[in-house]
Amino acid sequence: MIHMPKLCVNVDHIATVREARKTIEPDPLAGAMLAIEGGADGITVHLREDRRHIKDRDVLVLRQNLKGVIFTMEMAATEEMAEIAKKIKPDLITLVPEKRQELTTEGGLNVTDQKEHLKRYIEDLHKSNLVISIFINADTDQVKTAKEIDTDFVEIHTGPYAENPDVKELKKVTDAINFSNKIGLKTNAGHGLNYENTAPIVNIPGIKQLHIGHSVISRAVLVGIKQAVWEMKQILK
Ligand code: PXP
Repeated sequence: MIHMPKLCVNVDHIATVREARKTIEPDPLAGAMLAIEGGADGITVHLREDRRHIKDRDVLVLRQNLKGVIFTMEMAATEEMAEIAKKIKPDLITLVPEKRQELTTEGGLNVTDQKEHLKRYIEDLHKSNLVISIFINADTDQVKTAKEIDTDFVEIHTGPYAENPDVKELKKVTDAINFSNKIGLKTNAGHGLNYENTAPIVNIPGIKQLHIGHSVISRAVLVGIKQAVWEMKQILK
């Protein structure tokens, strides 16, 4: 069978638009349902410490309604998030670094720097039968340490490749994915992937899931605007 990674669509920026007005639309769940109709194999959200887009209620409502697709919650490795994750029980938790000032996740989590903390953190979440992924840079030392602390998955950061999609950056991602698979980790990838730079990543064997957000939501705005204007025009008529 042809290898094909699962597509997990990150719907954070549906909530970003909603929060621009602090209103109730657009609704991330409605967007998630349409994404699934379009073929998404999973829905991903990042519950940030500052709750700038996705809120606690969104995660709850998504968990209650998403069945038969992979519901991933990205979160920082904090006590607050561990408590929420144990209640919500997403299908996958991706641990990410978080800085309040950043516009989006800027780099992978440095697992070598926080090895003991992360090891205990993952051990604790495993006791609640939660499945864990760690978002890391395309670096074999990071992959090796991630394996040592007993994560189930890693997600290889494709951001540097996306910013500079040349042979050198693609090789870094490819090498990290190959190494991760070789040492027995389930391997995902994501960040900055768009309609131009995703195909070479799909060609790397052994990727379980691609997590893609911003470019899909951006595209959705453009492909949807004609219909949205037409509907408003009918009211004016
Ligand atoms: N993977 C992780 C770990 C992320 O933090 C994000 C952004 O929330 C993504 C993937 C998706 O990145 P993008 O929005 O650039 O597609």
